[in-house]
Amino acid sequence: MSYSYGIDIGTQNLKICDGNNKILNLKNTIAIVNKNQMYAYGDRAYSMFEKAPDTIDVSFPIASGVIADFDNMQTMLFEVIEKTLKGKVKGSDVVVAVPTDITDVEKRAFSDLFSKSKNKPHSVRICEKPIACAIGMGLDVSEPTGLMVVDLGADTTEISVISLGGLVLSELLPFGGNQIDESIVTYLKRNFNLVIGQKTAIALKEQIGSALKGRGEKLTVVGRDVVSGLPIEMEIESDVIYEAMKSDLESFCNNIKLILEKVPPELAKDIVHSGIYLTGGTSLLHELASLFTEVTNIKVNETEEPEECCARGLGAILTNDKFKRYGQSPKLRIFK
Ligand SMILES: Nc1ncnc2c1ncn2[C@@H]1O[C@H](COP(=O)(O)OP(=O)(O)OP(=O)(O)O)[C@@H](O)[C@H]1O
Ligand SMILES: [Mg+2]
Repeated sequence: MSYSYGIDIGTQNLKICDGNNKILNLKNTIAIVNKNQMYAYGDRAYSMFEKAPDTIDVSFPIASGVIADFDNMQTMLFEVIEKTLKGKVKGSDVVVAVPTDITDVEKRAFSDLFSKSKNKPHSVRICEKPIACAIGMGLDVSEPTGLMVVDLGADTTEISVISLGGLVLSELLPFGGNQIDESIVTYLKRNFNLVIGQKTAIALKEQIGSALKGRGEKLTVVGRDVVSGLPIEMEIESDVIYEAMKSDLESFCNNIKLILEKVPPELAKDIVHSGIYLTGGTSLLHELASLFTEVTNIKVNETEEPEECCARGLGAILTNDKFKRYGQSPKLRIFK
């Protein structure tokens, strides 16, 4: 039996599509004890985040879209494939998604996670994330038609224009959902003397946050009062979260507009016609699509389960001959 895996290694979530097009989505988090011993990984390690004693180090092996902790990322991938998925890396076919706007060495490191291991797969290929996302959304990337894909992740936002199966423009911005969470934490501390953790900020963002004013929801959270130092319960309204996120939302809009200004006119015509395609978990933010339509005057298309879009596309590259050519062998240019 031969195994195949399409792997999207995100800053917050690791998504693996197997040969049956089933997707496993787990937190890309590791908990280490005694400096280098893996204690837990995935969702269990994430449940320890912000709660672990000093003896357990909970961390994210990917930062700003690139590998920050190679060894632990490699160990975790093998554990997930062999223990959680009950599969085999050795002899399998692997396609790994890589951000476009990073160096060749950084790209190479993603395939090295597999090719520089004891149990090597049969083949390791890479695919640029925006192409995999577009395929995952069911778009025909091979046409001479301009497609704009905005992947809003946790630590990165990748804005790309695709035509004829290649990237015409791509920009990797070093911020995403995590930045929004930090802004919420800072805003509540500054304006309400309330200290909350990142997980509470995420709950506020996801449950009552909105990219447009006036959602009108409320959520009661527990934090620490800066003045008394004691735990306190407070009801937060949607518009407070909107104010906290406002400058991050402006950054998203400004960067999308900047890319649109650089698109060659014939491709711009296609984008106006087909609309902007959103993917990545942060695209689930309430009314984000409406905000982008408002500022660009272009229709915005959302997709179902946007976090898994890239992995879905990688699955298609592995199993459908039509998309096979989008998985490339990693090249490393050496400059002398
Ligand atoms: N309903 C929601 N509203 C707002 N944000 C959401 C929602 N659901 C998930 N998110 C955010 O989506 C992000 C995770 O998305 P995703 O899995 O696409 O990121 P990633 O691939 O791990 O990151 P990156 O692509 O930057 O490496 C998190 O910041 C999470 O808080
Ligand atoms: Mg991602």
